[in-house]
Amino acid sequence: MRAAYIQQTGAPSVIQFGELPTPIPAAGEVLVKIGAAAVNPIDVYIRSGAITVPMQFPYIPGCDLAGTVVGLGPHASRFKVGDRVWGSNQSLAGRRGTLAEFAAVGEQWLYPTPSTQSDQEAAAGALVGITAHLGLHLHAGLKAGEVVFVNGGTGGVGSAVVQLAKAAGAKVIATVGSAAKQELCRNWGADLVVNYRDQNMDAQIQAFTKEHGGVHVWFETQREPTLDRTVGLMTPRGRLILMAGRTARPEFPVGPFYVKDLRLCGFAMFNASPAEQRECASGLNTLFEQGRWKPQIGKTFPLSEAATAHAFQEQNTLDKQGTLSGKIVLLP
Ligand SMILES: NC(=O)c1ccc[n+]([C@@H]2O[C@H](COP(=O)([O-])OP(=O)(O)OC[C@H]3O[C@@H](n4cnc5c(N)ncnc54)[C@H](OP(=O)(O)O)[C@@H]3O)[C@@H](O)[C@H]2O)c1
Repeated sequence: MRAAYIQQTGAPSVIQFGELPTPIPAAGEVLVKIGAAAVNPIDVYIRSGAITVPMQFPYIPGCDLAGTVVGLGPHASRFKVGDRVWGSNQSLAGRRGTLAEFAAVGEQWLYPTPSTQSDQEAAAGALVGITAHLGLHLHAGLKAGEVVFVNGGTGGVGSAVVQLAKAAGAKVIATVGSAAKQELCRNWGADLVVNYRDQNMDAQIQAFTKEHGGVHVWFETQREPTLDRTVGLMTPRGRLILMAGRTARPEFPVGPFYVKDLRLCGFAMFNASPAEQRECASGLNTLFEQGRWKPQIGKTFPLSEAATAHAFQEQNTLDKQGTLSGKIVLLP
């Protein structure tokens, strides 16, 4: 099969494209013919060597996939040949990645694709949709009528948080870096969209949340959280979600935090059990069928251009160029 792979960690240019053996599904695995894969910031950190995961070379990167079941390993019983499936969490913990024509995937990491959803959409929404669902529901315990704030409302995670929070009956505040992205976020139902370069941003958040005493759930997607400022904008008993910035060591305002009865939740989606992720996936599938969840595809590349796609992800997540809305999708 054709695949994008690396023989060593490093810059995007270490990604090669060529022939590798098609995997044979082991017990409990199914063989998926991949229709689309998506790129996530974690793929960039793993490829560059910034974070280490168990890796055997040639290593195929990629967490997210959507495609069609074409083979079953022994004891695989959740799916049959011909089923359309999507999933995430590949390329981690010794599992094979998804930047290939085929992947052998443990069936516990796969979910049925809604009949009206394309493989591109399903792959684009995989890791970020599960992340937003875990953060809002499992970790923050979001309730209808509460106010959710998310930085980067058209980013991979942010675009999912905006839509899932709206679907849960929340009022949503999102930040963006341009007028076009402001429009996009409003179309998904965000109630207040602020340009994060606007000097009046905090005054606008305070005015919008006045009747609630502040923000109930702050979903921080930035790698450099500003906790002093954030705590000041929260309502009592609010929850702060931290999920980015492995090397961040921000100052923490202990007094203002505890006198408001605030809670701080950190999480990484790949720590969630298959059962927890399945619950998110089934919620996402239902929302998609109800027209309340539309994964946002910002840019597609052929799989042969995986190196360029990784460079593009890096330019946006790390260098903050602002040239991406939503997800990068790769097509085998
Ligand atoms: N813990 C987990 O389980 C988990 C899961 C997924 C992702 N993550 C992490 O979460 C982070 C975000 O991931 P992603 O996929 O959403 O990345 P992404 O698609 O690159 O999105 C980044 C977002 O940040 C926004 N942004 C840039 N500068 C900003 C600023 N000064 N203030 C506010 N927003 C700003 C961008 O907005 P504009 O485009 O409008 O400039 C963009 O929407 C990454 O670090 C990733 O590793 C963690």
